[in-house]
Amino acid sequence: MDIISSGNLVNIIRKTLNLIDGRLIHHGERVSYIINKMLTYENRYKKDEILSYTIAALLHDIGAYKNEELDKMVQFETTNVWGHSIYGYLFLKYLSPLHNIAEIVLYHHLDYNKLIKLNSPYEALAGYLNLADRIDVSLMYHEDIDVDKLFMEYLDTKFSKKALDLFKEADKEYHIINKLKDNTYMNELNQIFGEVSFAQDEKEAFIRMLIYSIDFRSEYTVMHTITTVSIADEIGILRGINEYEREILHYGALLHDIGKISTPISILEAPRKLTEEEMAIMKNHVLTSEYILKEYINPDILEIAISHHEKIDGSGYHRGLTVKELTIPQKILAVADIVSALCGKRSYKESFDKETILTIIKNDSDKGKLCPDTVECVSAHFDEIMDNVNRNTFETLHIYADIKKKYNDLNEKFLSFT
Ligand SMILES: [Fe+2]
Ligand SMILES: [Fe+2]
Ligand SMILES: [Fe+2]
Repeated sequence: MDIISSGNLVNIIRKTLNLIDGRLIHHGERVSYIINKMLTYENRYKKDEILSYTIAALLHDIGAYKNEELDKMVQFETTNVWGHSIYGYLFLKYLSPLHNIAEIVLYHHLDYNKLIKLNSPYEALAGYLNLADRIDVSLMYHEDIDVDKLFMEYLDTKFSKKALDLFKEADKEYHIINKLKDNTYMNELNQIFGEVSFAQDEKEAFIRMLIYSIDFRSEYTVMHTITTVSIADEIGILRGINEYEREILHYGALLHDIGKISTPISILEAPRKLTEEEMAIMKNHVLTSEYILKEYINPDILEIAISHHEKIDGSGYHRGLTVKELTIPQKILAVADIVSALCGKRSYKESFDKETILTIIKNDSDKGKLCPDTVECVSAHFDEIMDNVNRNTFETLHIYADIKKKYNDLNEKFLSFT
């Protein structure tokens, strides 16, 4: 099944990125537009290569999901911006189909006179990205900009002169700054991304990268989605649902918490029970998921993703659906989500043991909250389910551990370098 078109996948990525921080809305898109126009004018790369660089530019601040560096990032005089650069690079390198060109993101804030000492094959492109990023940040604060004036004192120290010259030529030809100012760049960008064509495995990789990078914001949610997906897969098999239902369940589970991109870390990591107000904010993640996904994804997948907090007695959120309105995959995901949360460590609790988990879900089932057939299935096969889950999530767990370790190593290396 083709679960999503390439164009719609890019739209989901764009919509999600735009939820990171109000000040950065459309920043990734605008930078990707500048890069696309510079590279098109330069006429050095093939069309599909230019598209890959354009997507890398769209994603260049994806590491900002992880840390709260946005204040620093929007300043012209950037000081320590390694945090999000390194995370962005690692997400692209280990979780996306763009692993070959991930270095561009790593160096997107590095001064040009330091960048050239590194002999990176992506020196020129990282230099372009650095310049494009600063042009857009300057446009956030100024009605109009004169790039000559803006970069004069930094040429070949902070920024590459070659990049500026290329930008100026491309701007003459395509009126980049004007189009950014009057927002007409958006139509062109839609067209550019409309030409993207990913293979099925690349699409899956991009979805995973997006979801994993969101989960990565908090150490407590880092394994949640992948564990939920795996538990849902296992229950789906055990409950004998058909292939189509298994597939929509899988993707619904993968996307179910995408809306947490807009949940503040302070709430995700609160070391206590949430207040009523905080709980309301937390509950909003389902609406955000709906906002991101609707129009772009198979409606059956959407329904599964956004119904995972519904209860069969109608007491759940956000629509208060009841048993008659909930499909088996939806009921399975609700149970998988809870089991995954109970067996994971949280800021307010250690992970629970098998007996406690089974008691909790049995109680919920007795109270008419969770689907009794699904709860019974989990109780009867708990060890088998969890063995398979552990096996299936093993690799991702290692990638996560690796990313953390590599982050620390790179951070040390570059902090002393700059
Ligand atoms: Fe950045
Ligand atoms: Fe940026
Ligand atoms: Fe959720």
